[in-house]
Amino acid sequence: MKTYEQLILANKAWVQEVTDLDPDFFARQARGQRPEILWIGCSDSRVSPEQLTQTLPGEMFIHRNIANLVHAHDLNFMSVLQYAVQVLKVPHIVLCGHYGCGGIRAVLEGGTRGQIAEWLKNADNVCNAHADEIARQPSDDAKLNRLVECNVRDQIVDLANTDIVRNAWAAGQPLQLHGWVYDLRDGFLKPLVEVQSADDVASLPAEPPSMLGTDGAPELSATEVARQKMPEGL
Ligand code: CO
Repeated sequence: MKTYEQLILANKAWVQEVTDLDPDFFARQARGQRPEILWIGCSDSRVSPEQLTQTLPGEMFIHRNIANLVHAHDLNFMSVLQYAVQVLKVPHIVLCGHYGCGGIRAVLEGGTRGQIAEWLKNADNVCNAHADEIARQPSDDAKLNRLVECNVRDQIVDLANTDIVRNAWAAGQPLQLHGWVYDLRDGFLKPLVEVQSADDVASLPAEPPSMLGTDGAPELSATEVARQKMPEGL
């Protein structure tokens, strides 16, 4: 069976499963959405927001692009943001990067052309703004992963500086921005920065806290460390 045919088959199985557990699920879905989260993430196929947070349809409004960038001139991104904040009035926006991000790697290594190069200019700016911090990392992987963290921090600042978020805060609308990083190796999300007012943004440190270990690799979670220490066969 072809990969795309498997999707249709899997969909049928999913409908059956969901309906068995909750016969009214789809009737409720049809009545409308009231998500509390806007998720802004990378398009990378390994970073699937609903799966890694066990959220059901209806729980997150989602925008994904290469390297989870905030482009104030991107009509797609800005209309998603406007709808989420002004109509859905989500109280939380999660902006999630991930270690080993190919878009961020391309910024460091160069060589991209066309639309991707144009799109990544925003991340180029992040790279330039944190050049010293990136340069002092001990390896190429560490440089990449530290830039991923700096990118999350700077995109949160750019997000906070959009008219949509500033106006929401000025009107007293509760809106928290959360900058997280996802670790592909163990599946865990790592909270990095959080702001809920213009004052919070102004007092953010220039560099985000680092989740990287002394060897420059992201610290593995305790469970992953324990798993790796298990003898073969267990
Ligand atoms: Co990515």
